[in-house]
Amino acid sequence: MGKDALLAIDQGTTSSRAIVFAPDGTVIAAAQQEFAQIYPQPGWVEHDADVIWATVTTTIRQAAAKAAKAGWTIRAAGLTNQRETSIIWDRKTGRPIHNAIVWQDRRTADRCRNMREAGHETLVAEKTGLVLDPYFSATKFAWILDAVDAARDWAARGELAFGTVDSFLIWRLTGGAVHATDATNASRTSLFDLKASRWDNELLDLFGVPASGLPDVRDCAGDFGTISEDILPGGVPILGVAGDQQAAAIGQACFAPGEAKCTYGTGAFLLLNTGRNMAVSENRLLSTVAYRLNGETTFALEGSVLSAGATVQWLRDGLGLIGKASEIEALAASADPDSGVYLVPAFTGLGAPWWDAEARGALVGLTRGAGRAEIALAALDSTAHQTGDLLDAMARDGVPASRLKVDGGMAGNDRFLQRLADLTGVAVTRPVNTESTAWGAAFLAGLGAGMIASLEEGASMWKADRSFSPELVDEARQASRAGWSEAVARVLCDQP
Ligand code: G3P
Repeated sequence: MGKDALLAIDQGTTSSRAIVFAPDGTVIAAAQQEFAQIYPQPGWVEHDADVIWATVTTTIRQAAAKAAKAGWTIRAAGLTNQRETSIIWDRKTGRPIHNAIVWQDRRTADRCRNMREAGHETLVAEKTGLVLDPYFSATKFAWILDAVDAARDWAARGELAFGTVDSFLIWRLTGGAVHATDATNASRTSLFDLKASRWDNELLDLFGVPASGLPDVRDCAGDFGTISEDILPGGVPILGVAGDQQAAAIGQACFAPGEAKCTYGTGAFLLLNTGRNMAVSENRLLSTVAYRLNGETTFALEGSVLSAGATVQWLRDGLGLIGKASEIEALAASADPDSGVYLVPAFTGLGAPWWDAEARGALVGLTRGAGRAEIALAALDSTAHQTGDLLDAMARDGVPASRLKVDGGMAGNDRFLQRLADLTGVAVTRPVNTESTAWGAAFLAGLGAGMIASLEEGASMWKADRSFSPELVDEARQASRAGWSEAVARVLCDQP
């Protein structure tokens, strides 16, 4: 029969991955496939949902085959996903009626501004914990319904299904049997009442999204149906679902109030566990669901940085300054740290705490002494400074983080982590298991399957690899932070 294993399906912004874990978190097999980003107009970002689906099924099959060869049997699957990205599909054919609109997409910025100007932001913030920004799903669903011919009639007849990427994949993985999402993904739509933990009719009316298309909202370690035999034989149940940032917080064992993690992927997302209290930010951070288990919600404060790894990619693909992302570390090491060069990577606007969809990037403070190295360091520092802005906002909200657990691509860059500790003044810790997101999904499935007993068991599996303490003197840190704030002030344009 083989040893019991857990499958994590991790559907991210630029690639899909499938990872098979032993119940103690050891990786047994993995597969990954990248897919194309579609940029129909400046500020617009789409994915082909059928392509996403193809990469998910291919990677599941590849990872499962490797695990089977090594003598493991997958008992349960967990699913985690890029959040907010929105898909509408035909319930009869399973075909999406439009490309997925990706979380980074800014096409509904005007709609959000109009709603803000009409005075709706307070209601939205109080109920959903979110700001009015094109980042979230509600205006994306409404846009598709307005853009596709007769889609609203179709929806009125109950023939369309809406969902974030998790819902679409659950629907396809179960052969159309289950249309469900989990509370973390629901909390990113702007349609979900956080405290009541259900879709909200007033918000549905406000955003123009019909209730008929929405998925059922379940616990993170709930039952999401069984994967079809033609994709994965053996009747494997999906017993864990969470948005990727929440899954990373779970994988990083942020189970106690005050525990914080930041994941450095395309963007950077800092989540701080606030326990059973829905903390309300005075500094434009988001309140969100960290996880919902047995009907009980644990909340988090979140700071979202829209461009982190994407800035390094731009240095590579847009500027041609480096050949490989990993080259940035050595190049930045040769820079003058006091050059005064700042890069504000507002390629798709700025996230928390600014929420400025119209801001665009800038490189400021250039002198004849500035070269490739200074620009590379400014790019790394931009991610550290944006993290600093989030930590500062959390401290102003009365919930300071005492240390920051990190994961994602840039967490492998020691130079970046030292700069992060230096520029934020907060100690930074990288865990041994850096597969936080995928492990978080597998962990939820393990909980659902009874293969992992409790959150405490998860916390005892978390081990630190290396910590970075702040070394910069306060004066130098403050000078650098002030320079960054001035650079940001130059690009802001749509402030409420
Ligand atoms: O909110 C967007 C976030 O979930 C995307 O994460 O890792 O796919 O860039 P990632």
